[in-house]
Amino acid sequence: AKGFETIGALLDGLVPARIVMMMLTADEPVDDAITAITPHLSKGDVQIDGSNSHYSDTTRRYHQLKASGIHFLGCGFSGGLDGIANGISVMPGGSEEGYQIARPVLESVAAISVDGSPCCTFIGPEGAGHFVKIVHNGIEYAEMQLFAEVYATLRYAVGLTPDHIAEVLSAWKETDASGYLLDITLNILRQKEGDAFVLESILDSAGHKGTGVYAVQAAAGFGVPAMMITAALHARYLSGQRHIRTHLDEVTRSQPRKNASMGTTDLYNAFQLARIINYHEGFSIIRAVSAHYQWNINLAELSRVWTNGCIIRSSLMNRFVKLWENWDDELVLHPEVKTLIAATWPGLRRINHVSSSETLFTPCLVAASQYIAGASLRFPAANLIQAQRDYFGNYGFRKVSDPTGPLHHFPWRN
Ligand code: 6PG
Repeated sequence: AKGFETIGALLDGLVPARIVMMMLTADEPVDDAITAITPHLSKGDVQIDGSNSHYSDTTRRYHQLKASGIHFLGCGFSGGLDGIANGISVMPGGSEEGYQIARPVLESVAAISVDGSPCCTFIGPEGAGHFVKIVHNGIEYAEMQLFAEVYATLRYAVGLTPDHIAEVLSAWKETDASGYLLDITLNILRQKEGDAFVLESILDSAGHKGTGVYAVQAAAGFGVPAMMITAALHARYLSGQRHIRTHLDEVTRSQPRKNASMGTTDLYNAFQLARIINYHEGFSIIRAVSAHYQWNINLAELSRVWTNGCIIRSSLMNRFVKLWENWDDELVLHPEVKTLIAATWPGLRRINHVSSSETLFTPCLVAASQYIAGASLRFPAANLIQAQRDYFGNYGFRKVSDPTGPLHHFPWRN
């Protein structure tokens, strides 16, 4: 390693095409660094932003630098501390020419995917790389919340200690639930300091750094239902509202019985079905945004990049690689997923019934079940909303007998 006093001195010493990689806190620091670095770059150089930037900032920066002939890459990285040692998942987007120049460097830090190739692929133009990283994190939030809800169910409704919960969940390692988040959860559940479980000494207020917000904003902005990702983000917010929680606790003192019985098969099925709905939401956001910007994001390739290195790697992800190679529609409409929903939704509802009667907080398991209920045509209710909208705003409604036909009004006040 060589030390330099100024950015200019560092860059002047490099042979073109130069590859500049920035690992900074998102937002202003990235813009400040671009302002400081760009005057020292020339046409054909590559500049990479490896922070968790918002994809619209990346699109702006990509076009800004393209005007000077500089190849800009907004690169999503996932893997955390373990990734530093074992390789990470790399999601570059922006200039494809720049990607080809930087590819050997990016591939050298990537983990090895399920098919033996590096967990690195060109995701798409503009902010596509950072966009999929945002969705990765939205999925991550909901999957972490699901683990928390399974833990809460076994801890407070069934009454198992953390190490016993680890025993129950370790059987899941042999199934499609196996993955990085299961592994770290098992490890966390078993850790003790003296006689006490470390987990039980940790304050239950969850933090976040913003990417979950971006994922929920993208879903809402593009009209894609993402009830689980939204529930997971809001669960973190609620966990942080200690003032409200402390005071409301005085009036909601009903204690779980700690001996509720539930089938472990039901719990496993509920967890797996909820995970599938979570992935459906994530992939659905990507499909919508990719179509809007014409990014042409390849979901099979993206799933392959997510089979190792990243936080949401799991054996389920390995299956998505094959699935997306032969499927170009919503995940929940795939025949295998439809069969799974039919077989496991009753189990998810049974688990939700127990958690609700035991006064547990399980918003993601509930949201998964409610997604399935809302995604059916049974028990219509949005017709009342349409009637109300027409009543107070004259917005009109379509008729059951002509779903794509013209808008009608009703003289509600006559
Ligand atoms: C990853 C993680 C990581 C994450 C931060 C912040 O893929 O390696 O997703 O990039 O964004 O650890 O996460 P929080 O929002 O939970 O703080």
